Amino acid sequence: MKDYDIIHHVKGESKFIDDINVPDGTLYASVFYSPHAHGKIRSLDISYAAAIKGVKGIITYKDIPGINQIGGIVPDEPLLAEDEVHFIGMPVAIVVAETKFQSREAVKNIKIEIDPFEIITDPREAFEKGKLIIPPRVFSRGDTDTAWKDCDIIVEGDCETGGQEHLYLETQGSIAVPMEGGSVKIISSTQGPTTVQKTAAGVLGIPMNKIEVEVLRLGGGFGGKEDQATAWAVMAALAAVKLNRPVKLVLSRHEDIIMTGKRNPYTSDFKIGLTSEGKIIAFEATYFQNAGASADLSPAILDRTLFHCTNSYYIPHVKATGYSCRTNLPSNTAFRGFGGPQGKFVIECAIYKAALKMRKNASEIQRINLLKEGDEFHFGQKAVNVHTENTWKLAEEKFQPEKITERIRKFNSENKNFKKGFAFMPICFGIAFTNTRMNQANALVNIYLDGSISFSTGAVEMGQGVNSKIKNVISKVFNVTQNIIRNEPTNTTRSANTSPTAASSGADLNCNAVYRACNIILERLKRSALEEIGQSDMSKIEIKDGIIHFDKKKTGLSWSELIERTNFKRISLSAHAHYATPGLHFDRETNKGNPFAYHVYGTGIIEATVDCLRGIYKIDSVRVVHDFGNSLDPVIDLGQAEGAIIQGLGWMTIEEIIYNKDGKLLTDLLSTYKVPDIHFAPEEMEIIFHGEPNAAGIFQSKAVGEPPLMYGIAAYFAIRNAVSEFTGRNDFPYSSPITPEKVLMYLYGRTVSGDFLTADKKTALTN
Ligand code: MTE
Ligand code: MOS
Repeated sequence: MKDYDIIHHVKGESKFIDDINVPDGTLYASVFYSPHAHGKIRSLDISYAAAIKGVKGIITYKDIPGINQIGGIVPDEPLLAEDEVHFIGMPVAIVVAETKFQSREAVKNIKIEIDPFEIITDPREAFEKGKLIIPPRVFSRGDTDTAWKDCDIIVEGDCETGGQEHLYLETQGSIAVPMEGGSVKIISSTQGPTTVQKTAAGVLGIPMNKIEVEVLRLGGGFGGKEDQATAWAVMAALAAVKLNRPVKLVLSRHEDIIMTGKRNPYTSDFKIGLTSEGKIIAFEATYFQNAGASADLSPAILDRTLFHCTNSYYIPHVKATGYSCRTNLPSNTAFRGFGGPQGKFVIECAIYKAALKMRKNASEIQRINLLKEGDEFHFGQKAVNVHTENTWKLAEEKFQPEKITERIRKFNSENKNFKKGFAFMPICFGIAFTNTRMNQANALVNIYLDGSISFSTGAVEMGQGVNSKIKNVISKVFNVTQNIIRNEPTNTTRSANTSPTAASSGADLNCNAVYRACNIILERLKRSALEEIGQSDMSKIEIKDGIIHFDKKKTGLSWSELIERTNFKRISLSAHAHYATPGLHFDRETNKGNPFAYHVYGTGIIEATVDCLRGIYKIDSVRVVHDFGNSLDPVIDLGQAEGAIIQGLGWMTIEEIIYNKDGKLLTDLLSTYKVPDIHFAPEEMEIIFHGEPNAAGIFQSKAVGEPPLMYGIAAYFAIRNAVSEFTGRNDFPYSSPITPEKVLMYLYGRTVSGDFLTADKKTALTN
């Protein structure tokens, strides 16, 4: 029986930050944040708050013994505001009290006066005013300038994608406990324990070896805890060290939604040139990324947008320019896909718009431009083991798009107020951190005297089943049942200097490190076993079902006896190993290289029905052929694909984040921010495993966490197609999410001048 983490969740046995028994004397922290999006702090009065019963301390930047800096890529993010504030939700002070209630009460009694500065929320406006986080990034190949003259058709346009709230079930939180000699233990709900450790060391002004970070599991991360779990962990640590008491800091849902960043919204310009047959010759795009107030991970996210700007297509001439724009919003951050989805949406809009002009189906253009084996991506990497055309063909075979077309045509002709549409979405997603350095991991494997096994890695379990996959690897190497294998919490003292669990690479990297550690021990065990049975041929010794076999025959030696004997002979039953993904390099000056270990491919088809009286819609079906490799665990992989797809659907359709012009989040509750639920989920979801072995993956497997999210993009075009069936026009803006409100505008909201009442105007109305 496999020990999936979810089994413990369902039984209520799993422990999250809020379930951990805290030590006696623990204090509770709440955060006071800026109520204004931009300005200079004229005064901060904490005297009323300090007088509240139970309050033990109020911490501002002045109390920071080290540096007031938590920026990872760019040092542009203070832990606590000094003299300026840059977004609503920016932490200004930490209030610590005997109870959570008291610290909350005290926060309400802090008074701040702010002299306002100009507030920018729109990335294009930030760009015009020169507010860039990093210098522009340009990825290019060929020469788009001269290529336009070879094109029969040229189409230009702009489009936008919205943000997305992570809505992990467990909000951000941490418990910090002061230990002896000025050291501190931090329990954090983070995807990046080393990030927390390193940042805390800087803020506290102590060496990293005085900080231990531990993570049991997360109630979801989705990228939102890759960098943004750090601040809360560091605040708890700062308070704990300052007051010499354990401190717990857990955000409420409302605080979490207001204070933390989301998926980066983008607004982009595109230009695409094709032959009359539909072959794409040139593609140019400019991406304005809404980074928010500080860099956070936005520069790396922008790079992934540029890597994936051509999605699954081969395009000879490409020029992609990215601007990371600083605005007065919470710093936006990693979210499943990490800029890839934002990039893919733009090329899909360009293809769709070109198809309209050419009176073709978008799928015809998509299909004839698919990458082929050996094609080079615009950043110089060769595409190998490509599964674009074969997943597309299999999708056609299995899902019969001609029949779908026929069925939809019939439905649309018979129904006046309901219209259906469908769309294809091929995907291609690079696996590896694009920062080559991050592609390393380490693992510690212990076999105990009774034969039971534990392992410790840098991998953080957040629902994606990484520990189950690791158990699978260990049980395969030693050929023992998974019941005797247990994961230790992720801890920086056992696995040091690790990358966050992200980029869908957690399983690949950590399984490989564990595989190496296991093989070191296996080698010792085999030698030990040979000694025990008086043999010498290493190639004939095997462990099978807990019994040592020699020359395919059982010996009298069991697994637990072998372990006992090996320790008796004073041979180590533990091993630590390191893994670095081979073959990766990337030159950030030329933007060429081999940044990815491999790519994940697939083809999806989504069908939707729009209720053209009310503007609401239903996703009827999602059908995909996905490139899973030789799945390490089909149950987990299927769950990952389904979850990612639903998240992708939500991002493209009903999840809408709205800030007003003052930088205030209007969708700060679940009554105003809609996420998919079981009723929203498509009636039919068919996921076909395209299981070609992947030579670059552990046991021929493939990473799975992020790529399937991008199938969701087809929902946007399916709905768009249905709307245009009703209106007979297809000239409305390329703006996602395509919420029911927008659909209603597209159906009926045309003004006399032919414009649409767009989201912007709607926001003005709701303010
Ligand atoms: N699945 C669940 N249930 N919860 C999560 O938080 N995060 C996703 C994905 N799947 C996530 C998830 C993201 S953003 C990534 S990068 C990967 O899991 C990380 O895990 P992996 O590298 O082990 O695939
Ligand atoms: Mo995932 S967005 O790389 O944490």
